[in-house]
Amino acid sequence: MDKRKILITSALPYANGSIHLGHLVEYIQTDIWARFQKMRFPMEEGHEIYYVCADDTHGTPIMLRAEKEGITPEALIKRVHQEHHRDFEGFHIKFDNYYTTHSSETRQYSEDIYIKLKTADPSLITTHSVEQFYDPVKNIFLPDRFIKGECPKCGAKDQYGDNCEVCGATYAPTDLKEPYSAVSSAVLVKKSSEHFFFKLSDNRCVNFLRQWTLEGHHLQVEAANKMREWLGKAEQNNLSDWDISRDAPYFGFEIPDAPGKYFYVWLDAPIGYMGSFQNLCDKRGINFTDFWKKDSTAKLYHFIGKDILYFHALFWPAMLENAGYRTPTKIFAHGFLTINGEKMSKSRGTFITAENYLKLGLNPEWLRYYYAAKLNGTMEDIDLNLEDFIARVNSDLVGKYVNIASRAAGFLVRYFDSQLFNTLNLHMLDPLSELLENEEVICNHMKNRRYSLAVTAIMALTDKVNEYWDKQKPWEKAKLINDKQTSDELHLVSSITIECFRILTIFLKPILPKLAQKAESFLNVEPLQWKDLQKTLSHKHQIKAYEHLMTRIDRKKIDAMIDASK
Ligand code: 2FM
Ligand code: ZN
Repeated sequence: MDKRKILITSALPYANGSIHLGHLVEYIQTDIWARFQKMRFPMEEGHEIYYVCADDTHGTPIMLRAEKEGITPEALIKRVHQEHHRDFEGFHIKFDNYYTTHSSETRQYSEDIYIKLKTADPSLITTHSVEQFYDPVKNIFLPDRFIKGECPKCGAKDQYGDNCEVCGATYAPTDLKEPYSAVSSAVLVKKSSEHFFFKLSDNRCVNFLRQWTLEGHHLQVEAANKMREWLGKAEQNNLSDWDISRDAPYFGFEIPDAPGKYFYVWLDAPIGYMGSFQNLCDKRGINFTDFWKKDSTAKLYHFIGKDILYFHALFWPAMLENAGYRTPTKIFAHGFLTINGEKMSKSRGTFITAENYLKLGLNPEWLRYYYAAKLNGTMEDIDLNLEDFIARVNSDLVGKYVNIASRAAGFLVRYFDSQLFNTLNLHMLDPLSELLENEEVICNHMKNRRYSLAVTAIMALTDKVNEYWDKQKPWEKAKLINDKQTSDELHLVSSITIECFRILTIFLKPILPKLAQKAESFLNVEPLQWKDLQKTLSHKHQIKAYEHLMTRIDRKKIDAMIDASK
């Protein structure tokens, strides 16, 4: 079999905020996929699958936040890095590398790509003067979100730079009346400065992007449609050049040969994928070029939120293509998270951080399971309905899946010295055969990120196993344990059921890695791989005594978490 080379990324979270349940939709989705791929194509067999990420550390908001806290941006991003790392570990997000964009590697590739675009013939970098709002007290140009003023449409006061919360109008910050700085409250002045642009409107970019959008299925259908809208009709050119520079003071990388000019954070952010991977390559002796050279056959998959599609589907491939690197294999965009059908909100207590969730003793795998049960590989939003969350986890995981192990283990331990009957040829019989027949279907759903369908299929099989158990009435057989034939039957039914549990564990392992680990220890087996579906536990294999694998969700914990988030 050919050896896989796959690089997987999640979007880099900003280094000035906490990871919350909204972020986790993406990290959990990606982690499940990376774990699934690694289970199917293990490293020990020569496959190379890596999942990298990093903190997105540059830009004005981070600079201002550090200033407000009275610390340097370096100190801020260091602290947040530790917090993010802790939160991801808490949710069992298993990166091969979690790095930072404030690194020599990301700087090197940012400069490299910039210089290649600049020295292209004719150059793909251009400069011209731009007039923007300037805070004369802080002596900085302000991003839109730090500009406030009167809505040009309805006159409401204290509205943000790009839209009015009162009448819903959208506008440019320069349309605001009486604009002032949300940082210093100073009245803003307009000031011009020289900016650097990446010529996205150039035919080399536009033609490449048209072709890239049409061919190769790099994008989901909805995303490809969006791209066509952005690109416009064949004879049009709807793309504008992209402003990639910001003036000092700015926390970021200074542009080569342009003192006082810095790369805009969104230029170096995706390059952070390369930086993080280079850092991993140096640590593990992996060949970076194999993955990033122009004609690389390695796969590159980016998981992102639908709000940053523009950056990943336009700027990023156009930059890579014109700087002589490979472009992404696929971009997987997902929707936003709502909680109880509404946007996350501090006043409702639904702006829940990863830290709060874990601190209040909620099991991270409850959330992993619930998200999996909702994710369907499209850009639709997903809803975390807290009632449904409790019901679903308690019924599916505790009531159905975990229950199988506890039921079967009881008899094996009590009557059969925890040893299995010979189940070797039983894979041909129901319910085992039915479980195995579903492998391909489950595998395809997982591959296509339709986890919800995979979960539905797995739970239907779980029902089958429980029905089988009930039909066999093992508790009645146990009453006749001294009869050899009945005792053998009880031994067999319990062993088949344990074998079913092992198979269900393999299916669920990418979603529930810690639960699977506990199950492996209970089953007394090595870490399960996908190919272990082909095997069976041997005759007389001894399991361990059953210990609680997962507790039910207690509503009180959810209430406490909501209170703590208010
Ligand atoms: O939207 C965001 O949260 C950005 N920090 C994502 C960056 S993704 C990549 F380009 F780095
Ligand atoms: Zn208004």
